[in-house]
Amino acid sequence: MSRAWTSIPNTWPTARPEEERPAELPRRLVDRFGREVHNLRISVTDRCNFRCIYCMPERVQFLPREEVLTFEEIVRVVRIVQPLGIRKLRLTGGEPLVRREIEKLVAQLSAIPGIEDLAMTTNGIFLKELAQPLKKAGLTRLNVSLDSLDRETFAQLTRRDALEQVLEGIEAALEAGFVPLKVNVVAMKGITERELLDFARLAREKPLIVRFIEFMPLDGEGIWSMDRVLSREEILRRIDAVYPLEPVDERGAEPAERFRFRDGRGEIGVIASVTHPFCHACDRIRLTAEGKLRTCLFSLKETDLRALLRGGADDETIAETILQAVWNKEPGHAINRPEFVKPERNMFQIGG
Ligand code: GTP
Ligand code: 5AD
Ligand code: SF4
Repeated sequence: MSRAWTSIPNTWPTARPEEERPAELPRRLVDRFGREVHNLRISVTDRCNFRCIYCMPERVQFLPREEVLTFEEIVRVVRIVQPLGIRKLRLTGGEPLVRREIEKLVAQLSAIPGIEDLAMTTNGIFLKELAQPLKKAGLTRLNVSLDSLDRETFAQLTRRDALEQVLEGIEAALEAGFVPLKVNVVAMKGITERELLDFARLAREKPLIVRFIEFMPLDGEGIWSMDRVLSREEILRRIDAVYPLEPVDERGAEPAERFRFRDGRGEIGVIASVTHPFCHACDRIRLTAEGKLRTCLFSLKETDLRALLRGGADDETIAETILQAVWNKEPGHAINRPEFVKPERNMFQIGG
């Protein structure tokens, strides 16, 4: 079943010195390698009520409130980048639902013409109360993190005993009409293997697309190592042996490879960032909670948009700054290579 996936070509570069964007180019977000950027991931807060071991340390210092972009500032950035080619937005955190009145931001963003997809990635704990209001405000899609279906393992991974509330949150989201809903499982060796079939059954029984994500080196306590990555091959081999799978041939710029069960019941996905990087097809940039533009999940350099937003810069100057930063978007990450440098930020400070 599992075929070789078109992953990053061998000739794809890992780094290149910065260059000036040619002035004659059309005003579109495009980089030096010809990749067009259509997708902006916006972290609305670095705060979170979980402490997932693959994402943040147990004790953590969050940003002071005044450093976090206001809703007005976020909306302004989106209004500036939309005409440059952004049509998909995803709200992330930390945990986006701990930001007060987040549904108001959703309503403001969904009213911006040209935004075709407005999604959110959440830990799910507040969905019981918020799924309906989010739907009403115009959120189009929800992805929920759920790393284990076993109460103790869940608590060990998230450092919170909250499995029941997350499951209720997922039910509430389905009821509110977020169907199908994607469930994100960070796949860690020694932990996730024993639950692969339970997750496969979940994907077969409910309108949930379960996606296994290879563990990436963005954790807070240096626990990542290659031996802790449960690979795409192993995940697919174990599930396929019991519930035969076939690839779904549609991917585009999405990080997830899709597979359906051959008997037609349900779908799973694999995000193989570590063993099969997909950077050559990346169409994403990120805005951190404090207004830094990151052109790659693994960027070592950021562009301070907040300084421009709060320093009186006009929209044109901000647009030019973003166009120039995107021109120098990193070719990709080098997790598998000796030259890899781990970013200083952990996942919760980037937004996934
Ligand atoms: P969809 O639009 O629903 O496909 O969303 P998504 O999968 O892009 O977003 P989500 O927030 O659910 O992310 C799932 C996993 O993919 C997370 O672990 C992200 O960190 C990872 N991911 C998202 N974008 C990128 C990317 O550009 N590069 C890498 N390496 N991983 C990414
Ligand atoms: N590796 C892979 N995925 C991660 N996520 C958080 N930290 C990591 C990591 N180190 C996932 C979360 C969430 C998404 C935004 O990113 O599970 O679903
Ligand atoms: Fe919170 Fe998400 Fe990080 Fe877990 S992965 S600690 S839910 S921000």
